[in-house]
Amino acid sequence: MEQLFVFTDDLLVNVDSIDNDHKALYEITNALLVTSAGRSGSMEEVVSKLWKYTREHFKREETLMAEKQYKDLHEHKTEHEYLVFKLEQLTSHLMEEGAGSVSQEVSDFLTNWLREHIEKYDRQFARMTA
Ligand SMILES: [Fe+2]
Ligand SMILES: [Fe+2]
Repeated sequence: MEQLFVFTDDLLVNVDSIDNDHKALYEITNALLVTSAGRSGSMEEVVSKLWKYTREHFKREETLMAEKQYKDLHEHKTEHEYLVFKLEQLTSHLMEEGAGSVSQEVSDFLTNWLREHIEKYDRQFARMTA
């Protein structure tokens, strides 16, 4: 399968549970782009999988942060809420419209949303727990 959206090692934060989740999210996002290009699968299925996994991942991170008494947990949570809102807002129409409906705006968002969050927010937490 062609990789449109690839997890690269510079995104590792060196907390295994978080890194594994990020890799999975990259795979699902890649599947979404591939599905949208009409190559395989159902858009509805892949979009709902992405929403579900995103929420689960954010919850896992927040639980870990709470356990470690991370001082910026509140800010991080707010950022997660914003990303969920943005993700759902930008991709909800894909479920009905199906393959071929990913606009440039949505594609740009999907390409960048996780990368920016990982680099700016997740890494900051990971550094603190190391
Ligand atoms: Fe994350
Ligand atoms: Fe995060």
